[in-house]
Amino acid sequence: MELADIIKERVSTRSFMGAPLSTEHAALLESLEKTFEKCRLVAINGVDGHVGTYGVVKGAAAAIAVICADDEASTLMRAGYEGEKAVLRLTEAGLGTCWLGGTFRHTSVSRKAKCKGDEFPVAVIVIGYIAEKRRLLDKLMVKMVHSRSRKNFDELFKGAKEYLHKYEKSLELLRLAPSARNAQPWRAVADSRGVHFYYADNGRFAPLDMGIGLCHFLLAEGCGFDRVTTDEFMSEAKDGNVYAGSVLFPA
Ligand SMILES: Cc1cc2nc3c(=O)[nH]c(=O)nc-3n(C[C@H](O)[C@H](O)[C@H](O)COP(=O)(O)O)c2cc1C
Repeated sequence: MELADIIKERVSTRSFMGAPLSTEHAALLESLEKTFEKCRLVAINGVDGHVGTYGVVKGAAAAIAVICADDEASTLMRAGYEGEKAVLRLTEAGLGTCWLGGTFRHTSVSRKAKCKGDEFPVAVIVIGYIAEKRRLLDKLMVKMVHSRSRKNFDELFKGAKEYLHKYEKSLELLRLAPSARNAQPWRAVADSRGVHFYYADNGRFAPLDMGIGLCHFLLAEGCGFDRVTTDEFMSEAKDGNVYAGSVLFPA
């Protein structure tokens, strides 16, 4: 499956069938458990009693706990990037997912993930087989946060036409990323050197959302998180938005 198709296929699923993961999918889940610099993904196969989604999610088979060692913006961005990479792998495998930042029981997840010191679960990604019919609460959540809509391309991304055109496909895929309450904090300026990213400081999930969006952009450009650098000319806050980093493409 092409990356663009996987990204277009992904939507937040809150109504699952309730069936446990197949052996093959359980192995995929396990392979996604990894430790990165200052964040890690923990696989939880069987969510009952471990996640507690306050009724927002029903019938999920598994989850990934996204654990951070501190709440620095760079840590949260990396966690968003790695978590979303996992989401796209699961989507490609035909599974439904939903990021949860608020509606999960933090203490149970911390215990399950054996959090130590300052570590905390910033989010969980619930996983499972998509139910044929969405429940009422699921439909309500989608309606409340206008999940299906996205801000216009021109509202999010600025720059001279030739540069915006150069990165249009990747920025379009970024625009389809999930974000907490569908807040879409991602902003970018494209110029002759590459793309400079900023996020609207609209809540504690903004850097995590930024990392999620960057994941779509970076994968579309065929590069990894190590390509995000600080560009001294562009690192000032812009229009009240926080500088996240730049992805530069030498001519
Ligand atoms: C970091 C993050 C936290 C989220 N937290 C919740 C949550 O607590 N409860 C929920 O129902 N959805 C949650 N969502 C899902 C968003 O509401 C959803 O991604 C957004 O509305 C866009 O819809 P889509 O994912 O279907 O494209 C979260 C998404 C992200 C990225």
